[in-house]
Amino acid sequence: MESSVTSQSALAMLSWQIELGATETIGDSPINRYDTPPEKPGKAPCSEPASMPAPAIISAADDPVKEAEKAASSCSDLNALQSSMQSFEHCDLKRGARNLVFSDGNPKAWVMIIGEAPGRDEDRIGKPFVGRAGQLLDKMLAAINLSRERQAPETAAYITNVLPWRPPQNRDPKPEEIAMLLPFVQRHVELIDPQVIVLMGNISCQAGLGRRGITRLRGTWTEAYGKPALPMFHPAYLLRSPHAKREAWADLLDLQARLRAST
Ligand code: URA
Repeated sequence: MESSVTSQSALAMLSWQIELGATETIGDSPINRYDTPPEKPGKAPCSEPASMPAPAIISAADDPVKEAEKAASSCSDLNALQSSMQSFEHCDLKRGARNLVFSDGNPKAWVMIIGEAPGRDEDRIGKPFVGRAGQLLDKMLAAINLSRERQAPETAAYITNVLPWRPPQNRDPKPEEIAMLLPFVQRHVELIDPQVIVLMGNISCQAGLGRRGITRLRGTWTEAYGKPALPMFHPAYLLRSPHAKREAWADLLDLQARLRAST
């Protein structure tokens, strides 16, 4: 029987999916196989899905980090930065994501919160921290009278992530992915010019400080992207480990005291 997929193209598709981080042969949403029509006899069992994007062909001569530095440094405002990230073709995560998740909140805010990467809800909606972790983040901010909705810079919050695209199956970003997106984060901080930064979780610390180990890092002010920075437990971790909320509360009070001292 003649197949429309050669073994070479099947292998290429498979390695592309592995490159995107696929570790299991499951999709994001369940498929009811009883509802799918039976395959026609004689049809190749693994015909190519019509929506499968072609594997990216990127010249080995390109250095994605240099490309990102060049692109980011030429952006003079947030709109330019967002468009520049939108047209950055070197990160394969882009091809597996539905939306670029750029930011939310007030760009004039004194505090800039840098999370890790969008999850499924953020990818669908195109805004950071809108799922369960985001709802907890909003409550944490409200507890110290901050909100992403506020106009007044001293009580407002601006929120972004190290990665603007959702990693497949919410896997941890690879070091090379963080490295190629870091110039955009750095430029983002320069354009917002906040008084302080909150590094939410390990990936954010990895990107901003070059170190992980949030249990030790949290609660101690440091410097990231040229700004005072406070590492904190990620709200997703707090959902899994409610006992850590005590430390998170102490860190929130510390953040509030720092912001009050700036007035
Ligand atoms: N976790 C993050 O770090 N960022 C989001 O936007 C959502 C969940």
